[in-house]
Amino acid sequence: MPATLFILNGPNLNRLGTREPDTYGRTTLADIEAQCRATGARHGFDIVFRQSNSEGTLVDWIQEAGDVARGLILNPAAYTHTSVALHDAIRTAGIATVEVHLSNVFAREAFRHHSYVSPVALGVICGFGAKGYDLAIEALAHKIGA
Ligand code: DQA
Repeated sequence: MPATLFILNGPNLNRLGTREPDTYGRTTLADIEAQCRATGARHGFDIVFRQSNSEGTLVDWIQEAGDVARGLILNPAAYTHTSVALHDAIRTAGIATVEVHLSNVFAREAFRHHSYVSPVALGVICGFGAKGYDLAIEALAHKIGA
């Protein structure tokens, strides 16, 4: 049975394509999902791809990922910089996690330089737009296999 990867996306990422295109590009979340499914399939992963604007829903899904998935790719969006709850959920789930950001958060406002997620992630990919999701799938394939 192929291993499952959860790819979870946080608040406002449902608006990709029209949201601040100078920062986030014109790629929609549906485009990113299609790209992840293709890349995941190449690496032998089943992909569960979801987005929520709600912190609690993301916590529920991280717990679910801990029960059924081999790896987690998470773009926590603004919750990156605020959420002890996401930090605790990942720590408790004990799942191999890659944090992804489309933009280079370190080249932006100071409040984006701190992440509550990074200390419980295997690694962080930021600044490469939608390609970062592919890089995260490759990183998990390398670390945990399919
Ligand atoms: C983001 C960066 C965050 O700082 C921001 O709040 C987002 C998107 C990114 O993908 O670049 O919503 O996670």
